[in-house]
Amino acid sequence: MKLKILALIAVIGLAGCNDEELNKFVRQADSPVYSGDRSDLLAYGQQLWNDPSLGNSGLACATCHAGGTAFNDSFKQPYPHLVAMAEDMSGLTSIDAEQMVQFCMLQPMQADMFAWDSKELAALTLYVEKVVQVEFINQH
Ligand code: HEC
Repeated sequence: MKLKILALIAVIGLAGCNDEELNKFVRQADSPVYSGDRSDLLAYGQQLWNDPSLGNSGLACATCHAGGTAFNDSFKQPYPHLVAMAEDMSGLTSIDAEQMVQFCMLQPMQADMFAWDSKELAALTLYVEKVVQVEFINQH
């Protein structure tokens, strides 16, 4: 499983970003965050996390990350923090969970980023921080 993931990452490749692309990863000060019922968002986040049709690569977030795979020790630190892949792609040295969801949508998932005020982004971000990251910290 781990080899398969590494091969996938090698095939997808990690491209660099120019300044314009870099700006896309920063939430504008006036853009609202979707707000909704917390347990509804967590359930929706779990559904998206496991959905192989979410992006265009045929992979779900869980395909790479189930059981804590494809994360580094950085994932144990509270957000924002440095994530090697995000730094390679964008030069940003401090990333929050929401931006990481956007990065993984663009690159491994080969899709568009979510709208910053979307329910999808809010749901996956909450699920990553409250479930996936907590499990990773408990297991490692
Ligand atoms: C092809 C495999 C792959 C898929 C699919 C994938 N990711 Fe990732 N993800 C990675 C890699 C590689 C990293 C970078 C780890 C690093 O550099 O520390 C990463 C990093 C992350 C991190 C940051 C961990 C940290 O240290 O803070 C989060 C959060 C994350 N992914 C969420 C997602 C979400 C949400 C999805 C689905 C929308 C997803 N990933 C889909 C491979 C993948």
